[in-house]
Amino acid sequence: MRKRLRDTLSEALPSEQLRKIYNSFDIIGDIAIIKLNEVQNAEAVAKQIMAIHGNIKTVLTPVSRITGDFRVRELRLLAGENKTSTSHKESGCTFKLDVKKCYFSPRLSHEHLRIAKLVQSGETVVNMFAGVGCFSIIIAKTASQSKVYSIDVNPTAVQYMEENVKINQVYDRVIPILGDSKEIIQTQLQGVADRVLMPLPEKALEYLPYALSALKQTGGWIHYYDFQHAPGKENPVEKTKLKVAEKLDSMGARYVFANSRVMRSTGPNWYQTVLDIKVVALPSKF
Ligand SMILES: C[S@@+](CC[C@H](N)C(=O)[O-])C[C@H]1O[C@@H](n2cnc3c(N)ncnc32)[C@H](O)[C@@H]1O
Repeated sequence: MRKRLRDTLSEALPSEQLRKIYNSFDIIGDIAIIKLNEVQNAEAVAKQIMAIHGNIKTVLTPVSRITGDFRVRELRLLAGENKTSTSHKESGCTFKLDVKKCYFSPRLSHEHLRIAKLVQSGETVVNMFAGVGCFSIIIAKTASQSKVYSIDVNPTAVQYMEENVKINQVYDRVIPILGDSKEIIQTQLQGVADRVLMPLPEKALEYLPYALSALKQTGGWIHYYDFQHAPGKENPVEKTKLKVAEKLDSMGARYVFANSRVMRSTGPNWYQTVLDIKVVALPSKF
């Protein structure tokens, strides 16, 4: 579809604009989200997208950055039905969501499945920033008898998560919890987890002590996500490791960075990184 669209649009748009469109093109269910703010005939381009891809009912464009605790953005209708809710399929699961009221990125699909495949049968997982439940539900579907405490502070995201738990039939295995994960862990989830997910780079460092306190006394895994600015020869993964090591060392944890990588580039010299941290001994105060 992308190639067909590219060929069609290449007649109408300069190559630099075409490149920008393709770097920002996301399809979520039957909604396409495209950054077309620098394209003059944005509505016409959106209609062409719909004509080529019959499954797309709505084309939206972001008119703000992703902001705030809920990590959402303003969107403007370019073409098609005026709606923001949809149903998206990923790794054999179905996720209902509202693209305006909840965070969702189809660009995380590889990471959702990578983590799910690491989870062993019977594990208890705490997902500190769960959104509409993608990591949590894919884990529950992939790892037998696993249980995922799935926390989010956005009430709309948690409502969709509850619906997605039903749709994907993972009742009792994914437990949606509304609240600040720091408080939920302190009051309900101390020492329960084999594995903790921290898929919110903006808060990961601040919330790292709470991730540690959610782990069982025997230790476990933390999946830590970060955004790093790394111009020139700087290595974004090494920068993330340095920052996290400083925090873990100051707390007295013993750990190994078992795996680390750049997931994707998010802008000029900006990268999203992930560390799989094996915590072998918790700080003595836990
Ligand atoms: C980047 S999104 C997570 C995406 C999700 N894990 C996925 O794969 O689709 C971050 C989420 O963290 C939630 N959030 C922000 N602050 C939070 C907090 N203090 N406690 C729990 N959730 C929080 C936001 O509402 C948002 O849904």
